Amino acid sequence: MHEFRYIRNELYCENLKVEDIARKFDTPLYIYSYKTILDHFLKLKKAFRSIAPLICFSVKSNSNLSIIRTLVRHGAGLDVVSGGELFLALKAGCPPRRIVYASVGKTAREIRKAIRLGILFLNVESLPELQNIDRIAKILNKRIRVAIRINPDVSPETHRFITTGKITNKFGVDFEVAYNILRHSHEFSNVDILGLHIHIGSQITESSPFIKAIARVTQFIERLRKEKIRLEYFNIGGGLGIVYDKETPQTAFDFASRVLPILKKTKLRIILEPGRFIVGNAGIFVVRVLYLKHAGRKKFVIVDGAMNDLIRPALYGAYHDILPLKRQWDSGSDNMTEARNRREAIRVARYDVVGPICESSDFFAKGRVLPMLKQGDYLAIMGAGAYGFSMSSNYNSRLRPAEVMIMKNRAFLIRKRETYRDLIRNELIVDYK
Ligand code: LLP
Repeated sequence: MHEFRYIRNELYCENLKVEDIARKFDTPLYIYSYKTILDHFLKLKKAFRSIAPLICFSVKSNSNLSIIRTLVRHGAGLDVVSGGELFLALKAGCPPRRIVYASVGKTAREIRKAIRLGILFLNVESLPELQNIDRIAKILNKRIRVAIRINPDVSPETHRFITTGKITNKFGVDFEVAYNILRHSHEFSNVDILGLHIHIGSQITESSPFIKAIARVTQFIERLRKEKIRLEYFNIGGGLGIVYDKETPQTAFDFASRVLPILKKTKLRIILEPGRFIVGNAGIFVVRVLYLKHAGRKKFVIVDGAMNDLIRPALYGAYHDILPLKRQWDSGSDNMTEARNRREAIRVARYDVVGPICESSDFFAKGRVLPMLKQGDYLAIMGAGAYGFSMSSNYNSRLRPAEVMIMKNRAFLIRKRETYRDLIRNELIVDYK
């Protein structure tokens, strides 16, 4: 569910007409719905109410300060993966005790910062990393909590680039390595190994891979308990899928009702790390048609946004719905026959929706049926709230777009559009003489 819908054939975000927002802030433009972001967070919180988990929003999915600050203010913690995200978490006012930090390659500087702050967990992904953390903590004369990231070796049915819980992926350690670390935890004098962590992948629409992974870890926790190895936390990661096309993902409630019985058995505090579930459908990317181009039987619609702004179609072949901001018929009309007749009267065409970048992978859709378009029309690329702006770049020296947050009938600029000056801000012109 989200707050983007047609009212009298115009696309609205909450109570504002998207076209008005696009005209005011110019395109290409990211637009988010405040209510949708919060609704999704609260839905998850409610579904898991009986165990009151710490819900750590995954900053990588959308790292805009206004968004993470809103979630933090409503009680969320944050899942970070770099010194930069740790910096943002603090800027957003997140208490360190609500920050968890995962990454297979944390640098000494990043580890030092996390230890000094006293974050809730460093999620450890290898033995050498654990040794390094212990060494650094010793130098700083501090203790730090760590969780071992386990690779449970399950195969979620998702894109191979976003699968993380198979043993062939680089993430985490297997059960035996984790067991050996835990049995020898006394050898790491400045770390408290108090948690286990998993994250099996992203955009997972079924609950079975989660259940399989959680069940494997639960068995492992039992084994540890018998050996009097005590833990306090179990972090089950993120990965909940959303609707992009025709998926029917589990709802927060379905997911919770399936996994809660197993989680309760562990008697541990639970951490969740959702990203996409909270922001994915809360954001759209609005572009404007620059040109229409026919080449043989192909029709290209060239828009002012590109793969540098939203790379998911180019990188994963990801599907994003594309909607015109002005619709020509009311499919929600009570009179279905009338609606169908009108729709049939509308001329549609099959388009490749592409950006201006010099790469053939610069597309948002291929062969997509859309109403006949003309120059100047606006299009909304849906489901762009997660891994949209956060994966954007300046490729082709394009300026990264602005971001706007809609709250009821108000629009707030939450990130300015870049300027040419931003492009060269860090460059030094050297006179090689
Ligand atoms: N926790 C960890 C350790 C993660 O690596 C991730 C995502 C998450 C949580 C949040 O996952 P989510 O709930 O958003 O699925 N760029 C890709 C997705 C990469 C996901 C990376 N890790 C995409 O656009 O589909």
